Amino acid sequence: MSDDGSRSPANGGFISGLPKVELHLHLEGTVGPGLLARICSERGLPPGDIYGFADFGEFLDAYRRVVELLTDPWDFYHVAETLCSRLAEQGVVYAECIFTPQIHMRRGLEHEEVVRAILRALDEAAARGGPRVSLIYDTVRQWGAEAAVECARLAASDRQAGVPVVAFGVGGDELSLPADELKEAFELAGRAGLKRYVHAGEVGGPDSVWEALEVLGADRIGHGIAAARDAALMRELAQRQVALDCCPTSNLRTRAVGRIEEHPLPVLLKNHVPVTLGSDDPGFFGSWLEDEIALCVRTWHWSPEAVSLLMKAGARHSFLEASAKEKLLQCISRRHRTIE
Ligand code: ADE
Ligand code: ZN
Repeated sequence: MSDDGSRSPANGGFISGLPKVELHLHLEGTVGPGLLARICSERGLPPGDIYGFADFGEFLDAYRRVVELLTDPWDFYHVAETLCSRLAEQGVVYAECIFTPQIHMRRGLEHEEVVRAILRALDEAAARGGPRVSLIYDTVRQWGAEAAVECARLAASDRQAGVPVVAFGVGGDELSLPADELKEAFELAGRAGLKRYVHAGEVGGPDSVWEALEVLGADRIGHGIAAARDAALMRELAQRQVALDCCPTSNLRTRAVGRIEEHPLPVLLKNHVPVTLGSDDPGFFGSWLEDEIALCVRTWHWSPEAVSLLMKAGARHSFLEASAKEKLLQCISRRHRTIE
């Protein structure tokens, strides 16, 4: 029985009251049709029907179409503000949000202004007792080695300037570039005190996860679900305590996984691989963290304790410093809605 006295494993009350941790969420991917329509109507633009996609490649195209409509640094204030409200509604107390600065710089937006707008929204939300949000700057894999180094430098200098950047990462088309090409950027980031976040094993195979570990020194991996096909790799992840941030709805919508019953999350857990739960791009997939939890509870009949353990795994594998991690763990145990 759960500590709020509820009996049903699928108890919605337990889930909604549980403090949550979300470690795999793209800032740009939180822009859903409603927010985009609002942004476009302010400048008299019809957004059109641009969210459609049938597989991972088409998803990346839709992502680009949506992002191109964010043309004013102030749009990012609205995006981050809306995100913080949605996180607070779900009881998310801590999130690590992936942000891809070069997409916007290449379109001529002033990086400092965009970051200022995001930080304003994050600071206002924190002042209201909302979630604490750290940033992971990521590069686009298909843009190559040079862009990766540039992004790692930007992450390092913004961190130095006080922006809450905790990690450097890579997303985009996992199959487009060998990991070797990204080694220099990840080494630079590591030397600057940043953690290393790698999207791998989402549409690629176990080799992609091995490379993330061995070549790039990943501290945590986005998706990594292909690891479930390789027992030695699962042992390695468990031994090194490198977590996989799993996003089941994302995997279904991009067709990385055919049916939820085939999702390897239970196999990973059974093999002691550290796993956290994320929503990836809720604006595109229509599923936020609480929906992901509900999906897992429905599919695998998770108990409230299992859900709570997963949120604690999020705290443990976050890129927060040790004392903040401890506070976050206590906040989950005591069911407090703020970290302090
Ligand atoms: N960027 C946004 N969502 C992504 C995903 N699921 N995989 C790789 N890059 C992404
Ligand atoms: Zn992602």
